[in-house]
Amino acid sequence: MASFITFEGPEGSGKSTQIRLLAEALERSGSRVTSTREPGGTPIGNAVRAILLDRRHTEMSPRAETLLFNAARAQIVDQVIRPALQAGQIVLCDRYADSTLAYQGYGHGQSLDDLRRLGAYATGGLTPDLTIYLDIDVREGLRRKQAGAADEWNRMEEKTLAYHQAVRQGYLALAAAEAQRWLVIDAGRSIDAIHGEIMQRVQTTLLCLPPRPAPDHQP
Ligand code: ADP
Ligand code: TYD
Repeated sequence: MASFITFEGPEGSGKSTQIRLLAEALERSGSRVTSTREPGGTPIGNAVRAILLDRRHTEMSPRAETLLFNAARAQIVDQVIRPALQAGQIVLCDRYADSTLAYQGYGHGQSLDDLRRLGAYATGGLTPDLTIYLDIDVREGLRRKQAGAADEWNRMEEKTLAYHQAVRQGYLALAAAEAQRWLVIDAGRSIDAIHGEIMQRVQTTLLCLPPRPAPDHQP
């Protein structure tokens, strides 16, 4: 059954690792899965991603940053996510609109109301059925990330520790405010333990989902 599952978390929390494991498990059980990520996931989104993450762009205005993330989001929703859901697939997305609330809202102090309105416009109102939040100590996540490929280190990750801590607190506040949609996971544990917890919740969510209605409005 079509369903839309997003993954959120601080840098290096293990989102890509867990998306890969979940996609493999769902495919083994016969589901059709589309895995994608933000910013990116489309040629236009990847071009916007290169602008956003370029370490030379130190002068980027916070509002320009927000609009670029949402431009990439509008494109991936229209070109990848909605068509896959309409074809009955399970869509797994590495980051989505909640990232903007956490990073540009709680991190940069932009108005959450403005960001919510902008997010609703960019997504055409498409919200996830389930959001899996991988919670990890910010230092540990950045350490994991830096231990990986050096060329992955980007402009967003260069921000201060205090910024990343504000992002993490923001995520926890968002999850507490909408507890039915969010699954909060302690991501400091082993890859297998985290995967097991995700599998349990995803199976329950898939069983309980009502049929997805036809898409409401396109922006
Ligand atoms: P993200 O997509 O959230 O940035 P990744 O899945 O790319 O995170 O993981 C970042 C790094 O941490 C990778 O090198 C990955 O192999 C490693 N990693 C992922 N999950 C765990 C875990 N539970 N314990 C230890 N290392 C992990
Ligand atoms: P990426 O290398 O994809 O990081 P990760 O593997 O942790 O997802 O870089 C994406 C960066 O962009 C990451 O630092 C989070 C940030 N970001 C925002 O600030 N706002 C957003 O709306 C999105 C989608 C990402």
